[in-house]
Amino acid sequence: MGNSLSNDKFVVKGRTVAITGGSRGMGLAAGHQLAAKGANIIIIARDREKLAQGVEHIRQGALDPSTQRFHHISADLTSSSECVRVIDEIVSWNLGNPPDVVWCCAGSPHPTLFIDTPVSELEAVMNSNYFTSLYMAHAILSHWLRTSREHTTQPSRTPSSTNTSTISAPPRHLIFTASFLAFYTFTGYSPYSPAKAALRSLSDSLSQEMNLYAAAHPNEPPIRIHTIFPAGILTESYEAENLYKSDVTKMLEGADEAQTPEAVAAKSIRALESGQELITTDILTSLVKRSMLGGSVRGGFARALGDWVLACVVTLAMVFVRHDMDRKVRDWGRKFGASGMNREDKQA
Ligand SMILES: NC(=O)c1ccc[n+]([C@@H]2O[C@H](COP(=O)([O-])OP(=O)(O)OC[C@H]3O[C@@H](n4cnc5c(N)ncnc54)[C@H](OP(=O)(O)O)[C@@H]3O)[C@@H](O)[C@H]2O)c1
Repeated sequence: MGNSLSNDKFVVKGRTVAITGGSRGMGLAAGHQLAAKGANIIIIARDREKLAQGVEHIRQGALDPSTQRFHHISADLTSSSECVRVIDEIVSWNLGNPPDVVWCCAGSPHPTLFIDTPVSELEAVMNSNYFTSLYMAHAILSHWLRTSREHTTQPSRTPSSTNTSTISAPPRHLIFTASFLAFYTFTGYSPYSPAKAALRSLSDSLSQEMNLYAAAHPNEPPIRIHTIFPAGILTESYEAENLYKSDVTKMLEGADEAQTPEAVAAKSIRALESGQELITTDILTSLVKRSMLGGSVRGGFARALGDWVLACVVTLAMVFVRHDMDRKVRDWGRKFGASGMNREDKQA
């Protein structure tokens, strides 16, 4: 367990971490790396076979497989009642205790042009990328904050003599997984980006709302809210989306280097350990973030000053970026028409 002298703000050794979408991709890589740091891991997804393989992979990387515990739960998290069932199952598996960390990684991309996307698909993308996280957040925060809500009229400012176990308890963490596209979207991502932008807004509001409970019940473990903003990750869905992504979107993305899920997980965990709230895992996203921060937490005055300097530069650069992106899309439309596909390549 961590102590107040440690600089590690994301201590997981001996604690229990639940990861939605932990059966593959970035969620699986995060589970593997957190198990190597001594965490008990539960992964949640729909495909049972992938879950069983995933949990075995995580167990093999564990710091001490003889004492750490691993579990998997099959659930479709687009259902709010399933998210409540998942938390209940975790609590009973975890000897009556809720998980200390919930990392919402489940999601799936859908890079298509807006009017080419059936409304049912637009709804499905929102369900997969926003509501899976929203429902999990509601289920776990309702559980974590149950004690606080039971004493809503009476702040508990002094340590309770009957409940000393939580006095120095380390924080609990709720982590969302958004995308670069939450900060800067472009042609071909209208079905997907709004769900990720909504996650960022949810994260910012919850981060502020948690102050209420922390102030009223300082003896309860504080709750930290974080969001990760990866750019391209080399996963199954990344490969799959390239099969139906329009050519105009591929042209705009250019030769951007995607990262491995292991690299994204490792950078995310390092940033969590340093206490960051809005976490980027590549340079471009970290620059674009500076121009989009609004009222989001900066992490202290020194970081805010650095953000301000970079924001001045990036805000000016954005004028040229947007101009260039617009020019490329107009040129594309003139040359290939409105389908978004490169007919010349297809006919050649
Ligand atoms: N790949 C990228 O380039 C990229 C870039 C930026 C952000 N992201 C975001 O990062 C996260 C991880 O991406 P990834 O590429 O690593 O994902 P991935 O490899 O496609 O894995 C997605 C995971 O989510 C689970 N999942 C999907 N829908 C679910 C549902 N309704 N209920 C329960 N589980 C569900 C999947 O398992 P089942 O299918 O078995 O349920 C799987 O475990 C996602 O939120 C994604 O949007 C990805």
